[in-house]
Amino acid sequence: MPRAAFLPELIWPYDSTTGDSHSVDRRDDPAGWERAAYADTPVTTQWDDGAHEGPDPGRVPTSSASMPSVVTRMLAALEVFPGARVLEIGTGTGWNAGLLAARLGDERVVTVEIDEDVATRARAALQGAGLHSEVICCDGRDGWPKGAPYDRIIATAGVREVPVAWLEQTRPGGLIVAPWGTHFGHEDALVRLTVAEDGGASGPFLSAVGFMKLRAQRLDWDLFDHHVGAYPGDAEESTTSTAWAELGERRLYGGTAFILGLLVPDCTHLVNERDGVTTVWFFDRTAGSRAWASVVFRPDGERATVYQSGARRLWEEVVRALEWWRAAGSPPLTSFGLTVTADGAQRPWLGDPAHPVPAVTVRE
Ligand SMILES: C[S@@+](CC[C@H](N)C(=O)[O-])C[C@H]1O[C@@H](n2cnc3c(N)ncnc32)[C@H](O)[C@@H]1O
Repeated sequence: MPRAAFLPELIWPYDSTTGDSHSVDRRDDPAGWERAAYADTPVTTQWDDGAHEGPDPGRVPTSSASMPSVVTRMLAALEVFPGARVLEIGTGTGWNAGLLAARLGDERVVTVEIDEDVATRARAALQGAGLHSEVICCDGRDGWPKGAPYDRIIATAGVREVPVAWLEQTRPGGLIVAPWGTHFGHEDALVRLTVAEDGGASGPFLSAVGFMKLRAQRLDWDLFDHHVGAYPGDAEESTTSTAWAELGERRLYGGTAFILGLLVPDCTHLVNERDGVTTVWFFDRTAGSRAWASVVFRPDGERATVYQSGARRLWEEVVRALEWWRAAGSPPLTSFGLTVTADGAQRPWLGDPAHPVPAVTVRE
């Protein structure tokens, strides 16, 4: 399945060295476009849910062709077999559905996409490749019950909760592969769940990935305005000996931030770097709470200054989570896994499902 056959003329390949995306238009630069189409990089194909027009990048990338090495990693994890029936959530360009359809037969693959224009393009691209898999425009949170039961469900948009509908629509023994993450930050991990007879599902995290999220499960970024009035106002001030690097943020997708998110419940963190000073913000997402913390790391190596406000001491929670993780031998992300119960509870574990990860909370 040629990836190029699924891409529009105007694309925004991601440059991993700068972290930026710049447009490439096939009509102006066919060779550059072809190079981008076959580079091992994600290619944004839509911004801002389609509201953005023109060659400049928009605000939020909302549809893309995923990075080819991640696509193949996910397909390998899916362990399809001849005759398997597969539901894909997040059609995007249709390339991944095309790969599955080419392997399994187009009638074995159904793919759902929330955006009408994106779905229409993907349907045309699949047909252009001689494939007639069903492309349904709907909210993938509900799966696609008409086509159930499936042997495999693969999500190519990130989730913060695996919907119960996906469990219900997968045969016992079937697999669900999805990028899963908490609200702590953007870092996700690929999870592979095996669906059990009791309607629940469980399985390991396989590797760190970054994905755009299901529309209803995106992070909202207005937390600062909602939580922080005067700064630092009446926040409690202290210092910390924990260094910024210990949070693992210098290595994108190193796994530490993902693991901290498993331990510190209902918390989002944001990083602000200016003039060599890194300020890390933490916000309590519990309904009604406006608790926040900020930690100011300066390049001089002095102890960082901590401000904490509200009923939770979020920075202390993060430090305790780090301590818990270290006491456990700093296990990598792949030592953790997830159980989703038949009623939808999401329970991360370490080692095996009998050892749930504790929720670390520190009150004022
Ligand atoms: C990373 S792209 C998918 C890449 C795609 N599989 C490919 O091969 O090009 C994620 C897609 O998920 C779609 N999406 C987001 N939320 C969704 C939802 N709730 N239901 C279905 N699709 C959704 C986005 O519109 C976007 O097209």
